Amino acid sequence: AAAAAAASGGGLFTAIPPTPRTTDNVIVPDGFTWRPIISWGDPVEPGAPAFDFWNQSFEAQKGQAGYNADYVTLLRNGNGGNKAVLVFNNEYTNDEIMFENISSSNDLTDEQLRIVMAAHGMTVVDVRRQNKHEAWEYVRNGRTNRRIHAWTEFAVSGPAAGHSALQTSADPTGRLVLGTLNNCAGGVTPWGTVLSGEENFNQYFKADEAADPDGKLARYGIRSAGRGWERVEERFDVAVEPHEVNRFGWIVEVDPSDPTSTPVKHTALGRFKHEGANVIVADNGHVVAYQGDDERHDYIYKFVSKEKYRQGNGHRRHNMQLLSEGDLYVAKFVGDGMEDGEWDGSGTWIPLVVNGESHVPGMDVAEVLIWTRLAADKVGPTKMDRPEDVEPNLHNGRIYAALTNNSARVEIDEANPRLGNKHGHVIEMTEDHNDHTGTTFRWRIVLLAGDPSDPSAYFLGYDREDVSPISCPDNVAFDPDGNLWISTDGQPGTLGNCDAMYLYPVDGPQAGHLQQFLSVPVGAECCGPYIDLHDNTVLAAVQHPGEISGASPSQVFSTYPYLGDGQPRPGVFHAYRPKGNGKGGGNGKGG
Ligand code: FEO
Ligand code: CA
Ligand code: CA
Ligand code: CA
Repeated sequence: AAAAAAASGGGLFTAIPPTPRTTDNVIVPDGFTWRPIISWGDPVEPGAPAFDFWNQSFEAQKGQAGYNADYVTLLRNGNGGNKAVLVFNNEYTNDEIMFENISSSNDLTDEQLRIVMAAHGMTVVDVRRQNKHEAWEYVRNGRTNRRIHAWTEFAVSGPAAGHSALQTSADPTGRLVLGTLNNCAGGVTPWGTVLSGEENFNQYFKADEAADPDGKLARYGIRSAGRGWERVEERFDVAVEPHEVNRFGWIVEVDPSDPTSTPVKHTALGRFKHEGANVIVADNGHVVAYQGDDERHDYIYKFVSKEKYRQGNGHRRHNMQLLSEGDLYVAKFVGDGMEDGEWDGSGTWIPLVVNGESHVPGMDVAEVLIWTRLAADKVGPTKMDRPEDVEPNLHNGRIYAALTNNSARVEIDEANPRLGNKHGHVIEMTEDHNDHTGTTFRWRIVLLAGDPSDPSAYFLGYDREDVSPISCPDNVAFDPDGNLWISTDGQPGTLGNCDAMYLYPVDGPQAGHLQQFLSVPVGAECCGPYIDLHDNTVLAAVQHPGEISGASPSQVFSTYPYLGDGQPRPGVFHAYRPKGNGKGGGNGKGG
């Protein structure tokens, strides 16, 4: 399938066929090649040693690139064409792959636990290239290089800052948190900072069911930790430090231009399993952040800033306050019936907090923001099939949400129309009157993922013969021409293929022409992505190479990025057209 050349996306490429899931390689289209830019353990901060799998230490890891790269972005502003700042999330760790002779987190020594904690968070590095035809390389002692990890100081902003439920014995102010955890997707703000979502933070905390009479812990999945972090830091034991867990699950904002800056946790955007947040400036100047809560049957949210965006670098300080105060809404989707042959309809943004007042019975503003899931449960939003990345297209203002799958879907609606949704879908939202600050919208499903031979799959009516198979959409991104790109997490288990990245036009004659651009190695999820084909720059993350559920590392293994140490190392790579290589394979291991 899928041999047609892409006519959009800024440059032609020929779609690659699906990659069998045992393939331990990155596959890119004919005429392209790829190189790793940075991988787990590469030295980032001054003084950090080179990666050495056999001699890892907590001190070294604090200055080295983190594990499991997820969201990836490249900041070009003011850096010219061949210098930039690369920022990526380090969502979690595969403890049994990071170290030898570890079959579960229970086996970790205290030192290894601290290494694991230091490998979480985010990585910021300067990158450069010789010219547009060469690979991006990271700069070992770059000016902006920084690791953000489980002990980095974060300030707390917004209405819940300082609330008693955020106070701990180490921080009686409730305004200073150590660390960010499980950072999944993210986005760049118009003022050049990076937003990052704290997703499955529950897994780091140990809690007792008996200590949860009101269900606040259960609604966030906080039970027995299983990661063992409480063995080295009591703050991860809810029985000892009951409020520490309330200090995670937020959107964090990082200023990558200043490695000494204090990043911020924004309570105004609510607390849930934040996949990420992406902002757009509305016509009236308010800033709107769209967000997903990645759990089966959870919700899509948006935040509208109270103050307005001001253009220009002189207003950066003002703009960095915009996410600290505003309104919070949760989405309800209503179908208009299937008689029209489309999964579509209207929607409303149900208020949770507006003008500094709670719209949720029995909960004040701070409670709504700290226990947002419980607040939303009271106002009747639509239970979605795991909202992952939710991102507005800055070209046309329409918003795209990846709904990755939902094995537990037993009751369907027009916005979540498949029982036991195995392959997931993508929904498009259009705000009424293109007003991002409004409370009503239209929506339509633009993709029901699956193999094109599956009659329940939907590609906007495009000829199925020319469509790539896809499953489990996770990250969405737009190239500079406004084309939608999708990367996936879960295809090995559903289609038997490696996870991958796709171009997916949703308008015009090519609408529905899904074309696979690349695939990532065995066991990995494909993250990022950052796409600018005019600039010969496609960046993607290889997350958890070698992770196959139910299989031990000796059965199914990856050695990505193939640098000779024999160890799988999650990281970020660059796919590009080398000079003079108009066609012919650029594939092959080795950077
Ligand atoms: Fe970390 Fe929802 O993916
Ligand atoms: Ca319809
Ligand atoms: Ca994700
Ligand atoms: Ca995205």
